[in-house]
Amino acid sequence: MAIQLIATGSALPKRIVPNRELENFIDTSDEWIYTHTGVRERHIIENEETTVSLGTDAAKAALEMAGMQPDEVDLIVCSTITPDCEVPGCAPRIRQLLGVTRDIPALDINANCTGCIYSLATARGLMETLGLETALVIGSDTLSTITNWEDRGTCILFGDGAGAFILRRSEEEGILAVHISGRNDDENVLVCNWPIPETPFYPAKTPMHTKLYMDGHKVFSFAVGALIDTIQYTLGQAGVEASALKAIVPHQANARIIKSTARRLDIPVEKFYMNVDRVGNTSSASVPIALDELARSGGLQSGDLVLLAGFGGGLTYGSALVRWK
Ligand code: ACO
Repeated sequence: MAIQLIATGSALPKRIVPNRELENFIDTSDEWIYTHTGVRERHIIENEETTVSLGTDAAKAALEMAGMQPDEVDLIVCSTITPDCEVPGCAPRIRQLLGVTRDIPALDINANCTGCIYSLATARGLMETLGLETALVIGSDTLSTITNWEDRGTCILFGDGAGAFILRRSEEEGILAVHISGRNDDENVLVCNWPIPETPFYPAKTPMHTKLYMDGHKVFSFAVGALIDTIQYTLGQAGVEASALKAIVPHQANARIIKSTARRLDIPVEKFYMNVDRVGNTSSASVPIALDELARSGGLQSGDLVLLAGFGGGLTYGSALVRWK
């Protein structure tokens, strides 16, 4: 079955938090954060904003771009590591808030910052298996809720947001290759665990890291290696040279990771779309937000080849080569 990515959408919280605001409660500076990460500011949720509300807004924007009604969606896959609640998942809640009246499958995926690539692969597979016409794929995260705001080595990186895209069955193939993979995080370089309350059968457990813990150096070197591997693998699978790409949309974790990857692959860094300066690392939302910005700013013409690539906790990584509709 041929499938195309036909529309994108995104949503960011209203409140913008510049680096200078972090100087009020951690020992840091705008200059350190910018030179070490490329981040200038991030959006942080407040009031009624949540992972579900952002995901719903991003989905509405994507539906509008596609000219589709909510009832034309056959499947919803939402990637998140910060769901509003465990039951139901975010995707069923978003289905409800969009006003979908038909019974359709809606499920969450937890694959950390590679979530949108894992979700694309899942949605594509389910469309084939179930013979569906369309799928709505959402990445939404509010990392501010699990960030350790006292740890200056991590809290400077993250922001909140949501991105979405729509897949539709088509005559011509628009998803030219997809790669998802992962390796064991034997050293626990990226972890966050919920405390477990006491039950009649189980003692209460408070794990060491109830907020996001990261070994920045180890994640950095994993990230560059994984990005290089997955970009090379996917281009090889599709038989496409990097020079044929209009853009690479990588996970926006740190501008230095992206620049280092570009240098080692000998691909001009200008080909890598970057918005990390304005949004920080939004985990599952990172790649779809960046793709939406690129598309809406007129950066993509029909037929352009775009490579989406991510990495994150798990330790997950993956990429997808897409021909823009
Ligand atoms: N402000 C000022 N100084 C700081 C700060 C800060 N915010 N943070 C650390 N420092 C200090 C350190 O204490 C250290 O001081 P010292 O030399 O006196 O000991 C010095 O700056 C250098 O620290 P490093 O940790 O070596 O800084 P580095 O250049 O490695 O940058 C960073 C740290 C930004 C975290 C980097 O390692 C990184 O980006 N790693 C990858 C993160 C990532 O990509 N995560 C993605 C996955 S997240 C997910 O999946 C949810």
